[in-house]
Amino acid sequence: MIIRGRTPSDTRAIEALVDRCFPPERRRRTAALLRGGSTPIASLSFVAEDADRIVGSVACHPIRWEGPGGAWPLVLLGPLVTAPERRGEGIGSLLMAHAVSALDGCGDDCLLVGDLPYYGRFGFREAPAASWELPGPVEPGRLLLRSGQPERWAGPARVGAAAPFAMPRAHAA
Ligand SMILES: CC(C)(COP(=O)(O)OP(=O)(O)OC[C@H]1O[C@@H](n2cnc3c(N)ncnc32)[C@H](O)[C@@H]1OP(=O)(O)O)[C@@H](O)C(=O)NCCC(=O)NCCS
Repeated sequence: MIIRGRTPSDTRAIEALVDRCFPPERRRRTAALLRGGSTPIASLSFVAEDADRIVGSVACHPIRWEGPGGAWPLVLLGPLVTAPERRGEGIGSLLMAHAVSALDGCGDDCLLVGDLPYYGRFGFREAPAASWELPGPVEPGRLLLRSGQPERWAGPARVGAAAPFAMPRAHAA
């Protein structure tokens, strides 16, 4: 089993895997609305491949955080999936290790919707989202942020899909 970067030719196999791991309403959930129609960020998205089969995937997408002082790019992690028959082998953790290492490499802060007991080990903490406006509801405690400066994201903001805005990839100062 290897972990490698996601390529456009993986898209169909990844979609099929994600469909096996989530109910169809996933497409209407807030995480999907945040992703919008954006393309995964290649340098932050990985697959686990075994015998030419994709058995796990983590994707990161560009999103946009807009507060009174301006708009900044942020990364949304997810979905993270491991094929049901391969869970508990550490594939999810390996994919996350690659994603957080790549995030550290580029200095991007990262948001996700997920369970703190799983994602806490990768440096995610509850997001300072009390005054955020999102494109849909998120269960309390499930909006998680990985940031060296979480306080800079606190305060009123609209958080949404990056498209159609062309956001610079450089991290805001
Ligand atoms: C979450 C998921 C990716 C984990 O994949 P995995 O390859 O089994 O992960 P690992 O083998 O690295 O880790 C498994 C461990 O995580 C724990 N774990 C899995 N999901 C968890 C959750 N939601 N909350 C807390 N712990 C969780 C398992 O109990 C297991 O614990 P253990 O190591 O103490 O036995 C996989 O369960 C999955 O695809 N789930 C469906 C999709 C999903 O919910 N994705 C996450 C939201 S985007």
